[in-house]
Amino acid sequence: MCLADGGNNITCLDIDEDKIAMLKKGESPIYEPGLTELLQKNKKHLHFTTDYPSALKDADVVFIAVGTPSGENGEANLTYVKSAAKSIGKHMTGDLVVVNRSTVPVGTGHEVEKIIQAETSYKISMISCPEFLREGCAIYDFMNPDRVVIGADAKHEKAVELLKDIYKGVNKNDAPFVVSDLRSAEMIKYASNSFLATQISYINDLAQLCQDVDVDITEVARGMKLDKRIGKHAFLSAGLGYGGSCFPKDVQALIALGKKIGSHLPLLEQVESVNESLVEIAFGKIKKLLDARDVKLENAKVAILGLSFKPNTDDIRDSQSVKLIGRLLRAGVSAINVVDPIVHWEKEVKRGSLLPKRLLDDKTSLGKITQMNGGDALEAVKLACKDADILILATEWNNFMNLQFEDLKKIMRNPCFADLRNAYSKKEVESYGFRVENMGRK
Ligand code: UGA
Repeated sequence: MCLADGGNNITCLDIDEDKIAMLKKGESPIYEPGLTELLQKNKKHLHFTTDYPSALKDADVVFIAVGTPSGENGEANLTYVKSAAKSIGKHMTGDLVVVNRSTVPVGTGHEVEKIIQAETSYKISMISCPEFLREGCAIYDFMNPDRVVIGADAKHEKAVELLKDIYKGVNKNDAPFVVSDLRSAEMIKYASNSFLATQISYINDLAQLCQDVDVDITEVARGMKLDKRIGKHAFLSAGLGYGGSCFPKDVQALIALGKKIGSHLPLLEQVESVNESLVEIAFGKIKKLLDARDVKLENAKVAILGLSFKPNTDDIRDSQSVKLIGRLLRAGVSAINVVDPIVHWEKEVKRGSLLPKRLLDDKTSLGKITQMNGGDALEAVKLACKDADILILATEWNNFMNLQFEDLKKIMRNPCFADLRNAYSKKEVESYGFRVENMGRK
């Protein structure tokens, strides 16, 4: 959509017919702020199809932007990339620049090049151009990149210039192009995501220590970020940890790549294990709150705010919130009311594949979950809190930033609050008569 907005003529191909049918109608198959508007605004420059020959006819450049989920042993599963490459090779009708946008391990670009060339006598110029956009603000990130990384072998200089040209209309802040060899570009993507994940695990580790020595982690992070070498955009918000379709799988894939060639990455192994420990730490805090009110887990009625892995997206892949729900169900809680501004729990359950297996295996447990929808999010929160023993903030949607604790106290059976994203001042919420646990904030 963004490339079309920059004046390029774009044909989008997907093998998923439902997705293409929605896009043809001007509807976005995912929730991403601004995407539907951009789609409708650029109708003239956008075409949608499931047919390779018509998509590739007269194309100058083709972008591969398919998923690379975690495969066995954490390695990136390249099935979709390879299958797209084969189809491109089969159906291309002239020389082509092929840009890989999917996150792939070092060496994949060259492998893709071989797969395509095995199918055709036309020439391709293989480029790696990893994406650095965040879900929830994807359009802004695409249009205002910090850098555009372009990796290609030296012989493909012309193709690099063509790609720069394509980006001209969308690179609004004139960000630098980082031109490197193909393999280095592939590594820049993994290195960036893994470094951001490292920051998150570092601050989460520190948050536990801060709590024990009566220090507020949010103050610590603020103080750190003012150091220019650390930076105001550093990923130093302590909480329930990272989820989503990128950090967990990319950290795993880099560790797996290291293992494969005997070059271990012990730091990243710890990053992953710190992140994995957070759901259990959060569960311990919830149990502590309930114990203090003499509420047994099997009798507890729980209200959870936020299902998506982060605010402003409908994506629940590897969501820490969903993992916590799984943990609570396994502990045998009596009922869980969930509220999310965008995610539809029942639809997700029907889709099934995105939910952790252990959640799905136990149909009785799943019946304990009810999604609350009100006129607005705060109404829904009230419904969820009725007779609840604990309120849990799992994903920090803006809609949950103005909770009316005074009112909630009146309708809850036990006023307990687990602020797992450190969104509220502990003292303030306590002043309304709540017992509060958080992830290291005072
Ligand atoms: C991430 C990167 O930020 C993008 O640059 C990259 O392009 C993308 O992955 C990708 O590889 O496609 P995304 O996963 O959409 O983007 O979301 P982030 O904003 O990075 O957040 C990831 C997770 O970290 C979320 O669960 C979020 O709650 C958590 N997080 C983030 C923290 O726990 N603390 C922080 O300080 C920041």
